Amino acid sequence: GTKWNNPIPNDEFLIIGHRGASAYEPENTIPSFELAKNLGSDYIELDVHLTKDDKLVIMHDKDVKRTTESKGKIKNHTLAELKELTADEDKDGKVAASAQKEAYDIPTLQEVLAQMTDETRFVIELKDPDEYDGIEEKLVSMMNDYGLIEKDKKGYPKAVIHSFDEESLQKVHRLNKDIPLLQLISFDDGEEAKMTSKELTKLQTYAIGVGVSYEALNAEFVSAMHQANIIVFAYTVDDREDAVKLQAMGVNGIHTNKPDLLTGTE
Ligand code: G3P
Ligand code: CA
Repeated sequence: GTKWNNPIPNDEFLIIGHRGASAYEPENTIPSFELAKNLGSDYIELDVHLTKDDKLVIMHDKDVKRTTESKGKIKNHTLAELKELTADEDKDGKVAASAQKEAYDIPTLQEVLAQMTDETRFVIELKDPDEYDGIEEKLVSMMNDYGLIEKDKKGYPKAVIHSFDEESLQKVHRLNKDIPLLQLISFDDGEEAKMTSKELTKLQTYAIGVGVSYEALNAEFVSAMHQANIIVFAYTVDDREDAVKLQAMGVNGIHTNKPDLLTGTE
């Protein structure tokens, strides 16, 4: 294929805090992101949706039921309505009763970007983007406002976008060719990761990498991706031995709910 530079070198092994440090703090909240950063994550992963009044908010599911005390779709709530809720998938009352309760408001993307320092890098997932007209434009414009479409002092992209939705990634690519994109791919249980050369050629037109469930990964696939100048992230890896194995396989980053899995004493 054509020669182009991948902004993330394929000898890199990055720790990506999945929904923050979500094994230790309620997922996709500012305390979870702050902890992920403090535990040394190279990137922080979060999922974005659009409210009824067109604000980008951070939550995994498109419905508030699992992670809050309420129910219903995000897109049927205004931001003000969502701000009445507490993002706490444990719902054991501890967060709701705590003095820090407000810290566990459902965060907007803007709040996260405004509160976290310049040194934080993000993997932003367009989750269920077909639910939300114009979410790609909103995201690209927010990334522009916060200077995320550039590299940091270390030369890493300050933000990348990933999604299972290929059409949505291609839309982002048409809006701004400088945003690094990763295609999320799921394989069936027991299936090995693979890609046809036709699929690979198409992938290279818009993406710098793939995000694949770690169970499906194998050295052959990783090296085929590297030869095509495509990096490979694995999701979601919470076991130290798995992480070590994936690193040896040449994987370029792991999404983990425990960003200290290689450094902690656990
Ligand atoms: O980290 C990859 C991952 O974000 C895709 O799955 O469901 O955790 O968003 P999910
Ligand atoms: Ca995600």
